Amino acid sequence: MQYSQSDANKLMYVTNRPELVFTEGHGMWLTDHNGKRYLDYLQGWAVNTLGHAPQCIADALAAQSKKLINPSPAFYNEPSIELAKLLTANSVFDRVFFANSGGEANEGAIKLARKWGKKNPAADGSARFEIITFKHSFHGRTLATMSASGKDGWDTMFAPQVPGFPKAVLNDLESVKALIGEHTVAVMLEPVQGEGGVIPASKEFMQGLRSLTKEKNLLLIVDEVQSGMGRTGQLFAYQHSGIEPDIMTLAKGIGGGVPLAALLAREEIACFEAGEQGGTYNGNPLMTAVGVAVIKELLKPGFMESVRERGQYLRQRSLEISEKYGFEGERGEGLLRALQLGRDIGPQIVEAARNLEPVGLLLNSPRPNLLRFMPALNVTKEEIDQMFSMLEEVLAKIGK
Ligand SMILES: Cc1ncc(COP(=O)(O)O)c(C=O)c1O
Repeated sequence: MQYSQSDANKLMYVTNRPELVFTEGHGMWLTDHNGKRYLDYLQGWAVNTLGHAPQCIADALAAQSKKLINPSPAFYNEPSIELAKLLTANSVFDRVFFANSGGEANEGAIKLARKWGKKNPAADGSARFEIITFKHSFHGRTLATMSASGKDGWDTMFAPQVPGFPKAVLNDLESVKALIGEHTVAVMLEPVQGEGGVIPASKEFMQGLRSLTKEKNLLLIVDEVQSGMGRTGQLFAYQHSGIEPDIMTLAKGIGGGVPLAALLAREEIACFEAGEQGGTYNGNPLMTAVGVAVIKELLKPGFMESVRERGQYLRQRSLEISEKYGFEGERGEGLLRALQLGRDIGPQIVEAARNLEPVGLLLNSPRPNLLRFMPALNVTKEEIDQMFSMLEEVLAKIGK
């Protein structure tokens, strides 16, 4: 089928998109409507844990769609119970609420923290509700999660904001301490700030936050929508620092490409009462069956070691190219990494990479001086080498 721009304009405008229509994807590769292939380092924005259209997801969807798609969230179903069991068995959490997007899971985390703050009030008996979040953080696009986010300009975009989200500075414990008041109930952070430019919270900071929140009877919420499900070389990024958070949110990688998210909490925190949280699609067996298929792959012996190895290789190749072109190094964890360009050429590189012939390269530049790499977790060494040789071709073309 051929598409015209006026056909595409039937979709509501929310962002600038190139005039390409993707029709197929397999592993690290996408194909557009003209048959051109692209090596894909976006993977649906760090979503396709196992690449495009992996067999285990196709099989899970086919089998579950013939069995049961949605009995309603008012009833139990087998895949959601199985996935909750696998997630709790492999983390410090005891209870799971499934959602459909990262923003929705975070909205749930905010509600749960506020509910807990009502049950564990301030000295004068009033509910605690303030959640300290961080500058440059990203937690979603609902009104509450936009208010929780520390993205420049988001405070006024759909004003008035949802109140109660003072912003501290990542990796600066004193800045957190300074914001704690009698109505503070939690601190919420991404263990690696993804959209903010791949900025990891340090191990010391995570440990310091855990001690501080314990001392002040505050909840520690980790938003692992981007960093979770093996992306950083551990199943969950909080595990790098050996701490035990109270609440965690997951999305993106948990569904390997399908809409699935989760809110996890320790038993003593999971205090919703009947009717306070829910949603028509939440925990439906079609999506949770996919979640089961994905996590089973991640839990196979050797899988996480291979993510760490590939992450190390991506890091080494990034450092080499950085040295060769006078860039400013790289940062990140596992297979969530950024090349620090040191100059604002990111958008130019992204466009030239996409336009390479005969095959294109899809890259992301969350900030103009950065390239972010978020390949499938089963990316091969050859696909990493190929990306860097294409990147060099781009740099030659644009004269950098
Ligand atoms: C850390 C983090 N939290 C939340 C979200 C929002 O997730 P979603 O787009 O699925 O609502 C994102 C999306 O990029 C994210 O990176």
